[in-house]
Amino acid sequence: MSNKQVTLSTKKYMPDPNYRKEAWCKDAEHAYQGYITDPDGFWARISHELEWFQPWETVKEWQYPFARWFINGKTNVSYNCLDRHIAGHRRNKVAIFWQGDDGSTRSLTYWQLLREVERFANGLKSLGVGKGDTVCIYMPNVPEQIIAMLACARIGAVHSVVFAGFGSDALHARITGAGAKVVITADASIRRGKTIPLKPILEEALINATSVDHVVVLRTQTPKISLLSDFERDFYELMEESDKNCAPESMDAEDPLFILYTSGTTGQPKGIVHTTGGYMVGTYYTSKYVLDIKDSDVYWCTADPGWITGHSYIVYGPLLMGATIFITEGTPDYPDAGIWWKYIEKFGISIMYTAPTAIRMFMRFGEEYPNRYDLSSLRLLGSVGEPLNPEAFEWFYHTIGKGKLPIVDTWWQTETGMHMITTMIGEPMKPGFAGKPIPGILIDIVDKEGKPVPPGISGQLIIKEPWPSMVRMVHQNEERYRLYWSGPENSFTASDLAVRDEEGYVMILGRSDDLIIVSGHNIGTAEVESALVAHKAVAEAAVVGIPDEMKGNRILAFVLLREGFIETPKLKQDLLYHVRITLGPIAVPSEIRVVDSLPKTRSGKIMRRVLRATELGEDPGDLSTIEE
Ligand code: PRX
Repeated sequence: MSNKQVTLSTKKYMPDPNYRKEAWCKDAEHAYQGYITDPDGFWARISHELEWFQPWETVKEWQYPFARWFINGKTNVSYNCLDRHIAGHRRNKVAIFWQGDDGSTRSLTYWQLLREVERFANGLKSLGVGKGDTVCIYMPNVPEQIIAMLACARIGAVHSVVFAGFGSDALHARITGAGAKVVITADASIRRGKTIPLKPILEEALINATSVDHVVVLRTQTPKISLLSDFERDFYELMEESDKNCAPESMDAEDPLFILYTSGTTGQPKGIVHTTGGYMVGTYYTSKYVLDIKDSDVYWCTADPGWITGHSYIVYGPLLMGATIFITEGTPDYPDAGIWWKYIEKFGISIMYTAPTAIRMFMRFGEEYPNRYDLSSLRLLGSVGEPLNPEAFEWFYHTIGKGKLPIVDTWWQTETGMHMITTMIGEPMKPGFAGKPIPGILIDIVDKEGKPVPPGISGQLIIKEPWPSMVRMVHQNEERYRLYWSGPENSFTASDLAVRDEEGYVMILGRSDDLIIVSGHNIGTAEVESALVAHKAVAEAAVVGIPDEMKGNRILAFVLLREGFIETPKLKQDLLYHVRITLGPIAVPSEIRVVDSLPKTRSGKIMRRVLRATELGEDPGDLSTIEE
């Protein structure tokens, strides 16, 4: 990677000073300095806003590259998300508003949610699930998914949520990788008025998944699909047969809360492990000070709980704040491109946290859709998952924010668990820049030698000190975990390229490794390549990310066919279909190109950067190691 000069815009939007007056964070700079003066005191104060069954003794222990936070503290995240509010003034407050694709709606108050979580937690216990066991959750965006997650947290089971858009091979790898004892699923998900069966995908994924003792199925379709007795249980029957009270398990701050798989740069996804205390404090802190959630808000994060954004900012952070959250199973352009704006009007949504890819899609549909609805309930906008390019920022700011709402563009990762860089409410906003590290986070941008680069020069983004919600381990792969902390002076390497301006605002330029961010989803080139070579017609495959106006990046695949196969439109269709059913729709290349050879190093590594540069008409860089 060479460190390039980047021309940076100086455009700024000054926020209305009233926003800062009313925000939880009144002075980000002061808070930032507060952390620097007393790092442990900073996190200690935040941790005291949550309940601990046994107080912790020390804020952190850092023995490079392993950190432990809130030593010997005992707590339970579901207790803090539910019981804590029931005891106070939020007992009858709506916790979840849900909107189905078919127009139906449901709501659950904190009281009701706790009741369901307790019963379901007992149901899981009756299936033999206990503290430390892993439960895989493969469900659409319905309240039962949140119930299942919180029920696991209540009894100390480690959940591993798999996004319902993943195919059977991807699901199999995640179930067996985590050694799940129980899998919770649904008969189907509903998208664009169509029923998409989920259970058959799970059935295929369960072949040779020997750790699984039971499957729990949420049955929403009529007639109800039949279940294999004993092995398969109905979600609500299990709940109703179970006791209504389930005391929260006392969890050590360092006990794992969940595993979440994220794409790796080798074929295998990485099981990112997050623990109880630090993750709870980190997501609570950022939901309060970055997303500024208040009791009067209706908060909507448009992600799916199957991603880290959903874990941290649909489920845990907002519920720790006692928020009313809105979730929907529907898609943004069905029945038409006004549906999201209609939800905002209908539910009075005040905080909307979404993704650049969605914003760019709405830009294409035009202003008439949002302009049909009353969006005056909105007071804060947020973005996550990929760079919010200046054009998308401007559209979001003017068309949705009416030129006055703050936008928090939050940079973070599955590994960081919580927001790391953003423009805190009240700070001037710069289109194209995520912003500055939030109070509590120290970052730098460095060159190949690990030396900080000056403003305007790109480099690797690193995080200099541990933070509470940092990844604790890569499941069964300590070597991979250690690699995260291989930055200069024992820092955390984010594998993102970034540049800073004179005022310290950070612009994220994209990944520096073999991950492609497609519509905000992390896709490993190796994962797609191994899916392609698993097809009988393919001898070799190379996958690269190409900039795309809508999706941020799209996947371009080069394949070398085996003897006896020739390029036909039908064969290409077959290959795309093969990727779709094994990995899922999000990993499907936008194009497949058949080639006679692939550029490789003498040691046989495919040089993707050469393919990419050739495709984009750019300089492919150093070719001295190329074989042919
Ligand atoms: O490249 C960065 C991009 O998404 C990566 C992390 O992906 P994942 O672990 O799936 O988590 C996504 C949700 C936090 C990062 O390394 N990314 C995330 N947020 C932003 C971003 N790139 C630019 N701006 C952002 N706000």
